[in-house]
Amino acid sequence: MYGVLRLICTCALVTLVRSTVHYPYIKSRSDRFNDNDYKVVFPHKEDEQSTLVHVHVLFRHGNRTADSEAELYPNDPYLNYTYFPYGLGQLTNAGKRREYAIGTALRERYDDFLGSYYYPEIVEAISTDYNRTKMSLQLVLAGLFPPRRDDIFNGLVWQPVPFNYLPRPEDTLLLGVLCPNYLELYEDHYNSNKVKRELRKHRETFNYIAKHSGLNVTRYQDIYQLFFGLSTESEYGLRLPGWLNTVWPETIIDLAIQEYYVSMGTSNLRKMAAGYLLKKILDDARRIIENRVKLCRKIHLYSAHENNVAQLLIALGIFEPHIPNYGAYLILELHRQNGKYGYKIFYENWTDRRGPKLMKLPKCGEFCPLDKLMSLIDEHLPLNDNLCGN
Ligand SMILES: *[C@@H]1O[C@H](CO)[C@@H](O)[C@H](O)[C@H]1NC(C)=O
Ligand SMILES: *[C@@H]1O[C@H](CO)[C@@H](O)[C@H](O)[C@H]1NC(C)=O
Ligand SMILES: *[C@@H]1O[C@H](CO)[C@@H](O)[C@H](O)[C@H]1NC(C)=O
Ligand SMILES: *[C@@H]1O[C@H](CO)[C@@H](O)[C@H](O)[C@H]1NC(C)=O
Ligand SMILES: *[C@@H]1O[C@H](CO)[C@@H](O)[C@H](O)[C@H]1NC(C)=O
Repeated sequence: MYGVLRLICTCALVTLVRSTVHYPYIKSRSDRFNDNDYKVVFPHKEDEQSTLVHVHVLFRHGNRTADSEAELYPNDPYLNYTYFPYGLGQLTNAGKRREYAIGTALRERYDDFLGSYYYPEIVEAISTDYNRTKMSLQLVLAGLFPPRRDDIFNGLVWQPVPFNYLPRPEDTLLLGVLCPNYLELYEDHYNSNKVKRELRKHRETFNYIAKHSGLNVTRYQDIYQLFFGLSTESEYGLRLPGWLNTVWPETIIDLAIQEYYVSMGTSNLRKMAAGYLLKKILDDARRIIENRVKLCRKIHLYSAHENNVAQLLIALGIFEPHIPNYGAYLILELHRQNGKYGYKIFYENWTDRRGPKLMKLPKCGEFCPLDKLMSLIDEHLPLNDNLCGN
């Protein structure tokens, strides 16, 4: 499996070197692979897999290049980079390997639960309408559903598995933050006295960054966007200008993280940013429990963005302030133990080699009974379908 992937990556590199590009190709960190970085150990494998009923996995796409002008700044020395052959805002080879590693880690953990064969009912795979999340999902599926002997032809160690996505304005499940009502309430929240008072404390830093970057910096959101431009540039091997030394990365990361709290700052914002997904997960659980369907979906995959991961962590009360890494993933496992349904929640953010961490829900613990979880997150669930206004 790795062999095939390495072959693809090598081909991409060869193309890259041979092509004529506008900008000299920079040997970036994103192209230097170390196989050990992608070996995942999934602890808790000893958990009683026989109690497992249903799994949902939300993950961030893999390493990528800088996205469009929104993340760059007027005085950016790399404003005109094309990131050929990737393009702007696209998955890099390092990102591909990481997403593939999510798939193989899930296969290792759920091998018994899923069984050997892929069949259409076994998985629901949903992406946002972005190239990088669609590609990431394809890689997770490739790692999770390797072809069995009969499925292989022409030496291709891959099989197609379908996935779906909705156009961005219709995607309340994963892009509720684009809802017309969300955007309006988000503006209101930024204009509230509480947030304005908070922002005033950072005026000096904002002014410093504005002066040097040429950006209009008045909100966490401005810094949040800038964070992605700067991190992708530096990951790509580009040297950041000297004025950033005093604020990069700590200050900028701290301010960027504040954007998550603003984005989840009121009850209605939480309902649209995370509630639609939570509601779907709980509705799926209810359907399984009530109908006891035989050939039901066993695993649901959601390929999305760091804010989805952060917002879901906040909604569950388990967010530790950070920007979820590329390929960070959150697993919600529904178990039935001694006749009682409940969730186990795991989070992997690739900061150590310990593998996905079993999270302890506040006031609920490591096995959180379904009814208890319901009452804890009830206030985040959208009740009427018009909330989004799309
Ligand atoms: C991919 O992103 C992670 C951060 O999530 C970083 O630690 C890693 O170095 C990146 N890989 C490459 C090759 O850029
Ligand atoms: C980017 O391209 C524009 C238009 O060609 C040019 O005016 C500008 O100087 C370039 N900026 C940088 C940083 O190279
Ligand atoms: C995917 O990438 C292509 C090429 O950059 C772009 O034209 C297209 O709009 C992208 N699609 C989406 C959904 O982002
Ligand atoms: C800067 O941003 C603020 C808040 O979004 C806006 O009110 C203001 O008009 C902007 N100024 C410029 C020069 O774009
Ligand atoms: C995830 O990563 C960050 C560092 O990027 C760390 O501070 C945080 O505690 C990690 N773990 C969890 C469970 O959020």
